[in-house]
Amino acid sequence: AFTQRVFSGIQPSGGLTLGNYLGAIKRFVDWQARDIETIYCMVDMHAITVWQDPEALRKQTRELAAGYIAAGVDPAKSIMFNQSQVAEHAQLGWIFNCVARLGWMNRMTQFKDKAGKNAEKASLGLYAYPALMAADILLYHATHVPVGEDQKQHVELTRDIAAKFNHDYGVDFFPMTDPVIEGAGTRVMSLRDGSKKMSKSDPSDASRINMTDDADAIAKKIRKAKTDPEPLPETFEALKDRPEARNLVNIYAALAETSTDAVMAEMAGKQFGEFKPLLVDLAVDRLAPISTEMSRLMQDPAEIDRILAGGADRARAIAAPILQRTYEIVGM
Ligand code: ADP
Ligand code: NA
Repeated sequence: AFTQRVFSGIQPSGGLTLGNYLGAIKRFVDWQARDIETIYCMVDMHAITVWQDPEALRKQTRELAAGYIAAGVDPAKSIMFNQSQVAEHAQLGWIFNCVARLGWMNRMTQFKDKAGKNAEKASLGLYAYPALMAADILLYHATHVPVGEDQKQHVELTRDIAAKFNHDYGVDFFPMTDPVIEGAGTRVMSLRDGSKKMSKSDPSDASRINMTDDADAIAKKIRKAKTDPEPLPETFEALKDRPEARNLVNIYAALAETSTDAVMAEMAGKQFGEFKPLLVDLAVDRLAPISTEMSRLMQDPAEIDRILAGGADRARAIAAPILQRTYEIVGM
């Protein structure tokens, strides 16, 4: 049996959104409070699978680290580091490129979304990304990976890679990692279109709440969020054909740390004209202190670099023996 260990990561490929916060970072903080080792990464090697301006990448990596800390990830309690500083990720990633099958990679829906119509122009890295993600996770023998719904397929691929490696080499070396996708925040949708996920790459800034938005921007975006003219019904189930309404209730529940049923019990009968100001108050109350703390932390980039370097040392201490043993198993 494997000791329970949590790993997750976020790409420093742009500003953090409310989706990243509710689907990932907020849950990193929940796991940190339990008696389990937690490892949280800035996955800059994933970010460069699409072009990143070097200066912007450096800044976004620090900003992401500031976002983790401001939201409650404590570098004394969790290992927090930048992927490229622990070379073992790339080394295990190569071995997993040789384990993963082309047929498996061809089924990855995120590649199809991100590469778009002109997949011939996508980088080889974008295609191989899920094998590197498997290495990120399995390099620590992580048993649990808190992620948003969009990452479920990649964690399943991680299990396939672990199983094939164990089978091909006749070992029981890599664990079957569980994706942990739970709570109301696992799939936060665009504020402009309830069929699209909220994303930092959406061209419309009004479609998302950024973790750096101030109170006015948050209020304006929520007031303008697409809804419908019906009042809120008695049950969450009754919202199944109202994706925009459903999304705002989900966001409310996730921010309030309660269930969608509890929100419905409180809000049934209210029009959006009444519900939205309550959501604005809650969102500003929860998010504004984080954005203030992020700007404060960003005033001392050297301190952020120091924290990440310390985290990389701790990560390497776990990763190096696991990579060493992998090499032995493979015959290298
Ligand atoms: P993005 O999808 O914003 O480019 P990443 O791919 O780095 O960001 O994802 C980082 C984490 O944030 C993942 O666990 C992902 O599932 C989660 N996440 C991203 N967008 C959302 C969303 N709209 N709702 C819930 N979780 C999300
Ligand atoms: Na994602």
